[in-house]
Amino acid sequence: MRVLVVGGAGYIGSHMVRMLLTSGHEVTVFDNLNTGHEWAVPDGLMVRGDLLERSSVNRLFAEHSFDAVMHFSALSIVPESVTKPLLYWRNNVAGTLNLLHAMLEHGVDKFIFSSTAAVFGAPEYTPMDEAHPTRPITPYGKTKLAVEQALADLAGAGQLSSIAFRYFNAAGADPGGGIGEAHDPETHLIPVVLGALQAGDAKVTVYGNDYATPDGTCVRDYVHVNDLSRAHLLGLDYLAGHPGAHVFNLGSETGFSVLEVIAAIEEVTGLKVPYEIGPRRPGDPPVLVASSAKAKKELGWMPEFADLKETIRTAWAWHSA
Ligand SMILES: NC(=O)c1ccc[n+]([C@@H]2O[C@H](COP(=O)([O-])OP(=O)(O)OC[C@H]3O[C@@H](n4cnc5c(N)ncnc54)[C@H](O)[C@@H]3O)[C@@H](O)[C@H]2O)c1
Repeated sequence: MRVLVVGGAGYIGSHMVRMLLTSGHEVTVFDNLNTGHEWAVPDGLMVRGDLLERSSVNRLFAEHSFDAVMHFSALSIVPESVTKPLLYWRNNVAGTLNLLHAMLEHGVDKFIFSSTAAVFGAPEYTPMDEAHPTRPITPYGKTKLAVEQALADLAGAGQLSSIAFRYFNAAGADPGGGIGEAHDPETHLIPVVLGALQAGDAKVTVYGNDYATPDGTCVRDYVHVNDLSRAHLLGLDYLAGHPGAHVFNLGSETGFSVLEVIAAIEEVTGLKVPYEIGPRRPGDPPVLVASSAKAKKELGWMPEFADLKETIRTAWAWHSA
């Protein structure tokens, strides 16, 4: 298939591009390089542009033909979304609407969207399945839910078939090397700790140790970036036979506390992680763990990286290189 990967220069998108190419698909990347990297995109695939510029988006669709679109681009730093909500609503919602508009104009009717566990808000039960209430508590989560709702309306009107994949915490790097997680600023636990180990002098802050969890620190579900990409490949096939708007939760279905992640990193790297306990961050739920039973049953998705240490090993190999 001819697949447009929006945000394909970013962390998850660049892994997706690599997997699509390996699977024989034709790929075009559209990215403004706001948080992405040109080096993460193979030569000849990149169209540099911003979703907020409708003329650039329209030109992209006028000059290329696509069978499907995968949409990874977004601003995704949760605390920043609280202080700069308009920036997030513009980029994540208005930008996505420009993309959807161009798709409809050009008769492209298959769409895969990067949603997030942040659409749920505070967990009412875990593991969280797709039926869990969606009451996002941050502007970031609200922008993602707004797009999910637009997708449901477009499917209702018979204009677009879509999948929204709600990722829990993406982690790791392609064992093939050359690409990995390189956000700036980095706010995700595993790369923050690995970066601190490399810097040699930086101390990691653990945000809160008084949560109602076994060791008091927040529990999260880490899913390997290549496993997320594999779900998207299965999603392309699924959309061919299943019109409508679908949502799937993607996680490893196992929770690890911040201190357990730090212990796993110490084991993988053989290095001691210096850390201090800081205050809680607003909007951090104590536990976020996915049920991915629906993706397993309907898509036949089976994560290959079942072991957190394996995932950390791939991230450490990327950081070390
Ligand atoms: N990383 C995670 O753990 C995680 C978890 C849940 C959901 N998500 C979602 O997955 C997606 C990918 O996340 P990531 O970690 O790879 O992020 P990332 O920041 O590495 O990648 C996003 C890419 O989109 C591009 N981009 C942003 N705004 C754009 C615009 N207006 N026009 C064109 N390009 C634009 C950026 O330059 C970047 O290359 C995001 O939508 C994010 O919200 C990520």
